Amino acid sequence: MPLAPHHLLNDRYKVVALLGQGGMGAVYRAQDLTLGRTVALKERTPDPNGTTQGMAQARAQFHREAQTLAQVSHPNLPHIYDYFSVGDSEYIVMDLVEGENLHRLVQERGAQPEALVLNWARQVLDAVVYLHGRNIIHRDIKPHNLILTPDEQIVLVDFGLVKLFDPSQPSTLTLLRGVGTPEYAPLEQYSREVGHTDPRTDIYALGATLFTLLAGKPPPDVHVRLLHPDAWRCVREVNPGVTFGTESIIEKAMGLYPQQRYQTANDMLQAFGFSPARLIDKIEPSPLRPAAPPPSLPPSPATALPQVAAASPEPPAPEARQPIAPVPADEEDFEISRLKQSPTGLLAARGIVRPPKTEEPADEHTQILPAKLKLSVSIVRGVLRMQLGLGTYLEFVRVPAGTFLLGSDPKVDRQAQPDELPQHQVALSEYWISKYPVTVAQFTIFTDATNRPVPFDFPQKSLHPIVNVNWYDALVFCRWASDITGKEVRLPTEAEWEKAARGADGRVYPWGNEFDAHRLNSAEGKISGTTPVDGFALGTSPHGAWDMAGNVWEWVNDWYKPDYYAERVGENPQGPDTGYYKALRGGAWFSDQSRVRAADRTHFNPENRYDYVGFRVVVVPDKSA
Ligand SMILES: Nc1ncnc2c1ncn2[C@@H]1O[C@H](COP(=O)(O)OP(=O)(O)O)[C@@H](O)[C@H]1O
Ligand SMILES: [Mg+2]
Repeated sequence: MPLAPHHLLNDRYKVVALLGQGGMGAVYRAQDLTLGRTVALKERTPDPNGTTQGMAQARAQFHREAQTLAQVSHPNLPHIYDYFSVGDSEYIVMDLVEGENLHRLVQERGAQPEALVLNWARQVLDAVVYLHGRNIIHRDIKPHNLILTPDEQIVLVDFGLVKLFDPSQPSTLTLLRGVGTPEYAPLEQYSREVGHTDPRTDIYALGATLFTLLAGKPPPDVHVRLLHPDAWRCVREVNPGVTFGTESIIEKAMGLYPQQRYQTANDMLQAFGFSPARLIDKIEPSPLRPAAPPPSLPPSPATALPQVAAASPEPPAPEARQPIAPVPADEEDFEISRLKQSPTGLLAARGIVRPPKTEEPADEHTQILPAKLKLSVSIVRGVLRMQLGLGTYLEFVRVPAGTFLLGSDPKVDRQAQPDELPQHQVALSEYWISKYPVTVAQFTIFTDATNRPVPFDFPQKSLHPIVNVNWYDALVFCRWASDITGKEVRLPTEAEWEKAARGADGRVYPWGNEFDAHRLNSAEGKISGTTPVDGFALGTSPHGAWDMAGNVWEWVNDWYKPDYYAERVGENPQGPDTGYYKALRGGAWFSDQSRVRAADRTHFNPENRYDYVGFRVVVVPDKSA
């Protein structure tokens, strides 16, 4: 019998409502009358049919749950405030996490978009890395125990099966052999023969959780998998929109035997391309250098309230999607402008059929690189062209291996900022960078082919840069492009972006040291919105990349750290391991000449979407190229 509202416990906690009920008790929303705050109250009631020994064990485990919570402090875990008994029942008082658990969310709304799930995965992995670092194994990771708060934070709750682990003696501390929900529990949680639960138990559960979130239904449990190996379904069989890269990570995490999985949560984090985040203090945006449009600018309809728009965690519903305007004739000659997709084109983009040969321009310099899948990657007159769909290509220019000057010399550039210092030589391996920011045409090929919602409020012009994509959207685009071409497409590092923008000689702008409003779309040109990515031929960089200055800010891969250059990483710097904001480069249409300098850096929360932020990508061709 759950406690009724107004029930007073320990003279201090007044029950407000039931939040959830399990076999061993319930969780309530309650009012802490002493401190005047709302809390969550987790109750364990004795099993009336239990043995004395069983009851003692359950009580000890509940106490262990409380003690474990008392040891941890992490943004994705709840804080505990109090622990007490009333009669035979025990209570944990903790943070009330507002929101909905992911089990309920999937029940109500089905499979979730990959970009969102990756964001959640990063947060859970962060918490799991943290726990494992303290020899704590959760053993009950599943959608039911992950609460999504209104501000898109994921909190891992329910330490009811937690085990404290001694890595030197894995067998001695097996306390209560916890069996969670079958779909999320690996073999070793059922069978002692397989081994003891250890950190890899959580890896399996997390893989199964991500499966459910992306597929909209749980994977087969291990019994089914053992008895009927054919019953296994890949995530992509259930939801073809999921990228191959993500599917492979889930499959590896869900290896039947612990040795087959990622051996540590950190390995899994790195497989996703996430570096451990949120372990350091937030870096607050510098008030002196706003990246957002200055308030004096009259907001154009497309740019009104970018911050508010950015706070919206949900992509628009498919019905909110607006038709794409026909491509104007003057854009027609540009190859990426074709938006009309034949069904074959869509299938080709999904990697299901090969597009007709005639699509490939006959060119004697064309060199077909061995693509893992179906769509062609070729080099035509020094430009690497990667087919995304019928008539739609990503084009890349080559940045040869070699050193360049990263950052600013205040003697050359009076507008240099502290986060650009000290200027130093950096060596980069060869890479190819997309000639233009990813366009509306290119991005909508991806959303069409994968049945993904399109970003809200993007310019209805195929050759404009795509905007209103957060860092994770950009990441998923990269994974998709990698899938269909068999090449590793990724976001550039800060250093790669900067070298592509200014070459080796430390120039201030892509074309030289002097600002020239005719060479880019910046505040000085008063265009007040995005422009086609091929609009400024005089603004190209020494390596032939367009639009590196102005138009839209571009996400890059690195976490932002203002004093990162002081570390003087001299070879292929990847940015700091940890961070809170991702770095962006290049300035936007409202930026003035100081912010469109090639060395200028800014940073945003990777979860946010802005109508002046897009991205470009890089690819490293095979050695044979
Ligand atoms: N701190 C909390 N704040 C808000 N809701 C919570 C909190 N802890 C648990 N819940 C909700 O109550 C449900 C049951 O709690 P849980 O700790 O998972 O108990 P059980 O061990 O019975 O599964 C969870 O799935 C979650 O939805
Ligand atoms: Mg639970």
